[in-house]
Amino acid sequence: MKKAYPIPSDTAASQARASDPLNSAWVSANAGSGKTHVLAQRVIRLLLNGTDPSKILCLTYTRAAAANMSNRVFSTLSDWTSLGDAELASRIVALDGRGADAGTMHRARRLFAEALETPGGLKIQTIHAFCESVLHQFPLEANIPAHFEMLDTQMEASLFGDARRDMISGASAGAEVLAEAFAMVLERGGEAGLDALLAEIVNKRDGLRAFIAGLGDDFRSLLAEFRFRPGLTAEDIASSLWPLPGFLPDYFAGFARAAEAADARMVLNNILPYARLAFAEADPIRRLELLGKAFLKADGAAYEPAKAFKKVLLDRLPDLPERYIEAARAILEVSDRLALFRMLEGTAAALTVARWLIARYEHLKRSRGFLDFNDLITRTVALLSRPDAGAWVQFKLDQGIDHILLDEAQDTSPDQWEVVKKLTEEFFAGLGQREAVHRTMFAVGDEKQSIYSFQGAAPDSFAESR
Ligand SMILES: Nc1ncnc2c1ncn2[C@@H]1O[C@H](COP(=O)(O)OP(=O)(O)OP(=O)(O)O)[C@@H](O)[C@H]1O
Ligand SMILES: [Mg+2]
Repeated sequence: MKKAYPIPSDTAASQARASDPLNSAWVSANAGSGKTHVLAQRVIRLLLNGTDPSKILCLTYTRAAAANMSNRVFSTLSDWTSLGDAELASRIVALDGRGADAGTMHRARRLFAEALETPGGLKIQTIHAFCESVLHQFPLEANIPAHFEMLDTQMEASLFGDARRDMISGASAGAEVLAEAFAMVLERGGEAGLDALLAEIVNKRDGLRAFIAGLGDDFRSLLAEFRFRPGLTAEDIASSLWPLPGFLPDYFAGFARAAEAADARMVLNNILPYARLAFAEADPIRRLELLGKAFLKADGAAYEPAKAFKKVLLDRLPDLPERYIEAARAILEVSDRLALFRMLEGTAAALTVARWLIARYEHLKRSRGFLDFNDLITRTVALLSRPDAGAWVQFKLDQGIDHILLDEAQDTSPDQWEVVKKLTEEFFAGLGQREAVHRTMFAVGDEKQSIYSFQGAAPDSFAESR
């Protein structure tokens, strides 16, 4: 026997209120506070009140959670088959707050068998598994192959391998925008960078797909967002630093002479060598780099003029501090601007590669009759949203579902919420509403535990869907 810890009475009361199958409820509570426990209690109370097991749909995000929930329900029901009358009666009172008459006791002992035996049975499954079964029921309406196959990880990797090979040969065969983007990625990241990028695209493809769709056709519009005019090049940006503000060539020549005359060591050792190269350099980008090395410290910040220039030098060139600050500031500004430009340019290239790779993968996947996990959700949402078929499908499904219970709601992505929402919309209105059936929705989650935000889980949608 597990050691029984006393459950505080206010906790027990809140849990009992939450598990009351008469109410629909959204419950947010901390880790380990008994959310899954309450959900299991609620399922048992529904069954005890005579709900047909096949009318209950419990959804979780992970398979482990589905198994966990299923174990809890079935182990309680299995316990009940062998308990003595007094013990069973007290369990039922504790659970449901009501006295157990002979009929209830009898039913309680039969629940285990019933829940197992009902065709279709008690459904405790992941959202993905649920969507997969819906799509298998309505392939025609969902516009997918009747005997679609789920893509396993191996097959998925192999499809991406093919897509990648097609991309590399496509890039060399002159698909111009792709070729350019591909060349930039290789130039910036090398083979290793390309591999890392492609792996990342595969991992994050669902989020990327939505992001890319939101950007429109031309990723260079990203540049416009940051006020870079169309057609601008890195060279144009670097050229804007020339002539160097505060340090026109004549002034620079005088500065160099004065530094030598004053034997200003710091200037002679740190500034002049690179600055001379910079003033002789014609390529604006090389020049910008050299100016940075000359006029800025190794950490990229400007020198403190009062410390950097000795007094003898300052006596000869009284306005040197202001001129130096002006030049250093301009170098920093243009360097930042150029870095931003390059970053956006690289991003646009990476997105171009991503769009191509994902589109190719989708094409290969579809042409071979596969669906992946993401498809299960999006195809189900599309199916339930179709103005022509949606209502019919929902009506058919609705015949089978009166109560939806959702665990780990914080890990439910917006698309997955859409599935739940579509199902419950018909609960409370419209075609599916059957008279005299009390239908409920129950969701539990903990916003703080959202572990899947990287793939689009939105703890906010949990709060919003209340
Ligand atoms: N009223 C209760 N009576 C007996 N045990 C309880 C009760 N409430 C919670 N527990 C026990 O506390 C533990 C944690 O509960 P549970 O797993 O339901 O929490 P949770 O909120 O779902 O946790 P997580 O955030 O990790 O999903 C479990 O072992 C559960 O059986
Ligand atoms: Mg839980």
